Amino acid sequence: MDLILGIETSCDETAAALYSGQHGLLAHALHSQVAAHARYGGVVPELASRDHIRKLPGLTQQVLDEAGLSVAQLDGIAWTRGPGLPGALMVGAGFARALAWGLDIPAIGIHHMEGHLLAPLLEPHPPAMPFVALLVSGGHTLLVHVTDLGDYRLLGESVDDAAGEAFDKVARMLELGYPGGPAIAKLAAQGRPGVELPRPMTQRPGLDFSFSGLKTAVRQYLQEHEGEGGEERGDDKDETAISTLRADVAYGFQEAVVDTLLIKCRRALAATGSRRLIVAGGVGANARLRERLNAAAQCDGFSVHYPRLELCTDNAAMIAYAGYRRLCRSAREPLLADLDFSVRPRWPLTELAAVS
Ligand code: KG4
Ligand code: ZN
Repeated sequence: MDLILGIETSCDETAAALYSGQHGLLAHALHSQVAAHARYGGVVPELASRDHIRKLPGLTQQVLDEAGLSVAQLDGIAWTRGPGLPGALMVGAGFARALAWGLDIPAIGIHHMEGHLLAPLLEPHPPAMPFVALLVSGGHTLLVHVTDLGDYRLLGESVDDAAGEAFDKVARMLELGYPGGPAIAKLAAQGRPGVELPRPMTQRPGLDFSFSGLKTAVRQYLQEHEGEGGEERGDDKDETAISTLRADVAYGFQEAVVDTLLIKCRRALAATGSRRLIVAGGVGANARLRERLNAAAQCDGFSVHYPRLELCTDNAAMIAYAGYRRLCRSAREPLLADLDFSVRPRWPLTELAAVS
């Protein structure tokens, strides 16, 4: 088992990648559908599925061409089985299964969050297991104790909105585009301290998160303060005051999220006795989060590991890599006989079992 094709179609990004056990990541390519969904204010599942169908064969050919390889050289195919949009997942599942069947090679369905979780291991000097993983994406906020491939103990999770979702919703309130995370980070760079917002669920013990109240606190703050300029909206002075206020709110919001994540990571490391932390998922690309975590790591004496920026957000490299790790440990024959291409739109990470 060496060369694996990875396929990712769980949401609004179509991606393909090639991972080799001997040579590492050979190529990865991605098509973002953000522009196609922008005017609807969110991802339209039917449009997403259709676009995956259009883009997937071309992206697969592209990574093969970049690596100078042909499909005949593939040893296995890994595809995202869930969680995600059902129709979007089915495109990847059908494509991967059909191609693998035609080539007489095994195919394996991967948990999208396991992909995120293993992504930091694609980088030089990967941490050894066990470690604590903070997974912060648009749909999930999880703290997991990882002892082995597939052996994931949930330490804490968000009881309502995911961290990325909170970034996206607050971005909408600030009239920034989607995805909100990068837009808020950019605006926050111009903001100043002063907007005090809650650090939810940090005062009591435990490792769960809640970001819904923080979002509401931002809405209230804006309602109370945006009106302060008086009735004559539209004059230049008001416009400047509103821009300044919004930058300060972006700053305060980002600090509140980062503080909250940092407090819980420190707690999770203490609770498990682990000295290694990995951070993955879209919010893991946040520069302020990385800055604060790096400082805490130096201060407390733990190590912190991230994927390179483009592998924080959705990609197929992480799926190819997770597929490689799993296929290496599985017997080929049962995998060849398994033609199931059902998807798991809802799929708790903890349902995965350790791979013996
Ligand atoms: O992992 P991901 O690409 O997709 C999911 O599986 O959800 O994560 C997307 C999320 C979005 O909510 C986006 O706003 C957030 O990650 N995000 C960020 C940053 N870049 C992406 N949040 C904060 N700061 C960033 N730089
Ligand atoms: Zn993701």
